[in-house]
Amino acid sequence: MRILIIGSGGREHALAWRLSQSPAVSEIFASPGNPGIAELGTCIPAPAEVAGYAEIATRFGADLTIVGPEAPLVAGVVDHFRARGLKVIGPTQSAARLEGSKRFAKEFFRRAGIPTARSASSVSELSFPIVVKADGLAAGKGVVIAQNQKEAEDAIARLGPGLVLEEFLEGEEVSFIGLSNGRELVPFTPTQDHKRLRDDDEGPNTGGMGAYADRRILTPAQTGEIMDRIMLPTLAQMAKEGSPFTGFLYAGLMMTAEGPKVLEFNVRLGDPETQALMYSYPGDLVEILEPAANGERMPAPAQPASCSTCIVLASAGYPDQPQTGDLIQGLDEAEAAGAVVFQAGTQQIGERLVTNGGRVLGVTAGGETLQQAIDAAYAAAHRIHFDGMQYRTDIGRKGLRRW
Ligand code: AMP
Ligand code: GLY
Repeated sequence: MRILIIGSGGREHALAWRLSQSPAVSEIFASPGNPGIAELGTCIPAPAEVAGYAEIATRFGADLTIVGPEAPLVAGVVDHFRARGLKVIGPTQSAARLEGSKRFAKEFFRRAGIPTARSASSVSELSFPIVVKADGLAAGKGVVIAQNQKEAEDAIARLGPGLVLEEFLEGEEVSFIGLSNGRELVPFTPTQDHKRLRDDDEGPNTGGMGAYADRRILTPAQTGEIMDRIMLPTLAQMAKEGSPFTGFLYAGLMMTAEGPKVLEFNVRLGDPETQALMYSYPGDLVEILEPAANGERMPAPAQPASCSTCIVLASAGYPDQPQTGDLIQGLDEAEAAGAVVFQAGTQQIGERLVTNGGRVLGVTAGGETLQQAIDAAYAAAHRIHFDGMQYRTDIGRKGLRRW
C-alpha cells in the first residue's frame, strides 16, 4: 500500500519512519516532507491550495493519506479527499473547529458537559492568575497567563476579538491522544509534553521542547475516566451535531484535584509526542489506520512495554526569531548511540544539512525504564552540534519524580 503524509515536521518524519517498517506499506510519499523523510520516500512540494493535496494523492496512487498539521485540516483538506472518494485520516473542516476555534471548543464543552476550566465574559468574574486565549490558530502563541489586571488588559488588547477568558487550573498536564473512526476511539499510551523553552517550565511557550511516553502517566482508572467523561462524550456530541469526528483526537488535559479537565483539543497528533509514541509503537500502525479510515472497528493500539523520550533540539532565537542556515553535525554519531533522530526544521544543501526552522531535530530513544530512555536520548543528543543549539535538560524529570 502507498501512503501519503501531509506535513514537514518531526511528527511526520516519525510517522514515515514507523510506517516504513510495516510489511503492508510499499511506498511512502510526503508533501512537502523534509530531508529526513526524503531518505524513506518521495517528497513532493506542497500545493498552493489544500485541494492540491487530493490531486497529489491521485497522481501518486496513494491508498491512504495521513494529515499531520492542523492548518490544512482547518482549511478543509479532508473534505476535498472525501469528495473524491480518497481514503484519509483526519477530521472534516467542520469537525476541525474543535482546534480551529477556541470559542467553538469552549461552547462545545458546555453543550457536551465536558469538564474544562470555568470561563467568563469579563476579568472581574475570575481571580488571578487568569488565562487569556486567542480564538484562532496561533501556533502556541495564543495563550497568556495574566498575573494581574495590567497583564490581562495587555493580553486582551493583543489577542483580539473572540478571545476566551478562563480560570487557571493546577495539576499535572497530560497529552491524551486517540484515533477515532467517527464513533469509537482507541487511545495511545499517555504522553507528557514540555511546552516552555527552558528547564523547570521557565521561559516562553513553544510548540513543545520534548516529550516522553510512559503508561504510568495515567492509572487505568484515570484512563477510564478520561474516556467516559471526555473522549466518548465528545464523539457522541460531535456526531449528534452533524460533524462526526474522525482521525486523531488529542486532548490536552490538566489532571486537577477534581479530576481531568480539558485545556484544549487538537484535531491531530501532537508534536513532539508523536516522536515518542512512534519510537516505541510495537505493532503495525496500518492495522489501526486502515479500519479508522474505512469507518470500521479498530483494534486497540499496541501498548509498548518500554518507555521513550524525545528531546527537541531548537535553533538559536527560537521561538521568536529562529536562526537558519547553521551546519548540523553528529547525526550519524547520535544514531550510532542508539537513538533515532527525527528531522523537522532542516534543509539539505548538497552534502550539508543545515537548520531551517525553530525546532530542528527530535532525538528519540527508548528503554525499559523511563530513566534509561532519558539517558539514552540525552547521550545521543550530546553528539549533535549546531551553532546556538537550545534544548532542555529536564525532559521526563517530572515523571521520574512521581515514580
Ligand atoms: P493551550 O494552547 O490551550 O494548550 O494552552 C497552552 C498552554 O497553556 C497549555 O499547555 C497549558 O500549559 C497552559 N494553559 C492553557 N490553559 C490553561 C488553564 N486554564 N490553566 C492553566 N494552564 C493553562
Ligand atoms: N505538543 C503540542 C502540540 O502538538 O500541540
